[in-house]
Amino acid sequence: VPAGFWCGQKVDNQGRQSSNMSQSQLAIPVTLNDVPPSIAEMLDDEERWEFNILELEAATHKRPLTYLGLKIFTSFGVCEFLNCSEATLRSWLQLIEASYHSSNSYHNSTHAADVLHATAYFLRKERVKSSLDQLDEVAALIAATVHDVDHPGRTNSFLCNAGSELAILYNDTAVLESHHAALAFQLTVRDSKSNIFKNTDRNQFRTLRQAIIDMVLATEMTRHFEHVNKFVNSINKPMAAIEDSDSEGQANFRNSPENRLLIKRMMIKCADVANPCRPLELCIEWAGRISEEYFAQTDEEKRQGLPVVMPVFDRNTCSVPKSQISFIDYFITDMFDAWDAFASLPGLMEHLSENYKYWKNLDEMKCKSLRPPPPP
Ligand SMILES: *[C@@H]1O[C@H](CO)[C@@H](O)[C@H](O)[C@H]1NC(C)=O
Ligand SMILES: *[C@@H]1O[C@H](CO)[C@@H](O)[C@H](O)[C@H]1NC(C)=O
Ligand SMILES: *[C@@H]1O[C@H](CO)[C@@H](O)[C@H](O)[C@H]1NC(C)=O
Repeated sequence: VPAGFWCGQKVDNQGRQSSNMSQSQLAIPVTLNDVPPSIAEMLDDEERWEFNILELEAATHKRPLTYLGLKIFTSFGVCEFLNCSEATLRSWLQLIEASYHSSNSYHNSTHAADVLHATAYFLRKERVKSSLDQLDEVAALIAATVHDVDHPGRTNSFLCNAGSELAILYNDTAVLESHHAALAFQLTVRDSKSNIFKNTDRNQFRTLRQAIIDMVLATEMTRHFEHVNKFVNSINKPMAAIEDSDSEGQANFRNSPENRLLIKRMMIKCADVANPCRPLELCIEWAGRISEEYFAQTDEEKRQGLPVVMPVFDRNTCSVPKSQISFIDYFITDMFDAWDAFASLPGLMEHLSENYKYWKNLDEMKCKSLRPPPPP
């Protein structure tokens, strides 16, 4: 992306420059074996849903995606599948991570690492594993890694209202998601040093590319209910109609290309917004980060005289607990009920209900902030 692409957003350009500086200061792991012991120890926890991505963010000096990516991609045999070296994978992860904006309070590379983590967790669930093939797994891990790359920290509506170059390029439709998908491939193939696809044959590349683009575009929230309804009607309902004893019949049903497509879309959608299903402390931190990013957008809309697209996210008046309750009621509950019915995720559902109670309790106390006031 040329410097100044996000013209009018000086913060992002400055943020990117300062993040480039801190990158060169941090030793880059030569191979997974050279990862510092304290980080390696943290990564040993990676298969647990309760994995603390914020500790990894701090320990890696804001490069959680590179380290977690190395660990997860290795564990799924991505290099063997793509026939690429670990050096190429490492260089690719660094390139992608550097293309996230560290200056965004939510949409920075820690969010990408978090979505990658959730995706890997889902891929290891028996139902999911037995539905997908390895190409689907590799595509899903790559899609999760790149799904918000170069996010400007502003929503699609903002970009459209502001007449941004991207909104013009993509005709005001799925502006960000189209950009993430397109840029991911531009960055990847630009330089052979970081081209993880350089040894993949044409046909396999085409299939992978299609699957990755489809998953990144599925993260667009305007089509949220369409995706969830399709999943429930085409997967959950027919599955429930096939007898449990007929596991072969169930597997054959799930393995069809159309159904695998719906499963992959649902998986990345759930991974993308799984914050309310994380342990409370993580859930609270993510709620603070997304609120801050939205507050910053509202501030800028007011400054520039643009329409305020999310008036609820005004830092002077917002109730964060109320905004979380609405988000969970509107988007999360039904989608995770459906995903849990398919993949069986009792731990996540437990966290979700705990966190929901936490926000409800704050709201009942008329508290608008992330945490209750300290006792007097
Ligand atoms: C893997 O890539 C190398 C080039 O790095 C090539 O020589 C080799 O034939 C490839 N192997 C397979 C199985 O495609
Ligand atoms: C992401 O944003 C938070 C602020 O909300 C910041 O503390 C953190 O360092 C950022 N992470 C990265 C990887 O840029
Ligand atoms: C945008 O709309 C124009 C006119 O309909 C069309 O030619 C162009 O292909 C569209 N671009 C995208 C990215 O959809």
